[in-house]
Amino acid sequence: MKTITLAPAKIIILGEHFCVHGAPALSMAINLYSKVEVEDLNQKKLQIFSENLNVLGEYVEGKFLPVIGGLESRKIVEPIRLAVEATLNMLGEVEKGFKVKVNSKIPVGVGLGSSASIAVSTIMAIAANLGFKLSKEEVCKIAFEAEKYVHFKPSGIDHTTITYGGLILFKEGKLVKQIQPKKDLTFIVGNTGIRRSTGVLVKEVDKLKEEKRSLMVKMLADIEKLVFEGLDALESGNLKFLGEILDKNQEMLSNIGVSHWKLEELIDTARKAGALGAKLTGGGGGGCMICLTEDKDTSRVAEALKKVSKEIYIVKMDKYGVKVLV
Ligand code: MEV
Repeated sequence: MKTITLAPAKIIILGEHFCVHGAPALSMAINLYSKVEVEDLNQKKLQIFSENLNVLGEYVEGKFLPVIGGLESRKIVEPIRLAVEATLNMLGEVEKGFKVKVNSKIPVGVGLGSSASIAVSTIMAIAANLGFKLSKEEVCKIAFEAEKYVHFKPSGIDHTTITYGGLILFKEGKLVKQIQPKKDLTFIVGNTGIRRSTGVLVKEVDKLKEEKRSLMVKMLADIEKLVFEGLDALESGNLKFLGEILDKNQEMLSNIGVSHWKLEELIDTARKAGALGAKLTGGGGGGCMICLTEDKDTSRVAEALKKVSKEIYIVKMDKYGVKVLV
């Protein structure tokens, strides 16, 4: 039997890094997807294959055999294995074997939640293959196990956004509220092409928090205020104000040291070309930035960003989150 699932990528609109320390954040699932196909095998073996990520790895009796992509490929396949095992443990089906095929259009290691998206699609596909329909809450619980492997201390915002879809207010590991923006939102994502580890950046912010406790307390209060102003702007359709808030959040991210000169170049380009506001998204240190545009300005801003980015994506909200297709 074959099951196929699809899960979106995500952008963090406001509040990354600070959400690891308990502040609220706003994030949105976007229309870039990872697709996972699962077939059951008649032996206890796990085969993980992805043509576009260039990996084929097998786990037989706990041993990892890299077939394509060498030992390096383990970084990509291990979180998928963890997602499979955690799902099987939860469902009490530990003796089963599977072939997992991943096809992801989400760039890896640049802050768009590629690992969380693949983990969430895998969890849903394995469960569906075994005839179970997991609740979104159950999917999040399992996905957290895989995310702990990839990131140092994940807040859970990536897999929660990807599982539920839409635009969410997130705080302390949980979805607080699903938000209905009054206006249709268009963001342009600019990729610097610089891959980095979110875990390393999260650790650096942790260190800063230890060294400058009172500064961090103030910043956590500031971001909370910004996030709630952003929420009002979204619900009242005041995109100009939302743009200004994105800019203020970028200043804070830059102050805690998670920006990068290339990100600043893309952000500056977007603002000069007429974006309403721009900031890095996700872990920073490279990776991606986002900017908010009005429809009349989108193609002009996109053209300007193309000249300085590795690639750009014009993205809209994905309303559904993870889905079982077949
Ligand atoms: C990663 O998309 C967002 C961070 O805040 C880390 C996390 O929340 O787990 C940097």
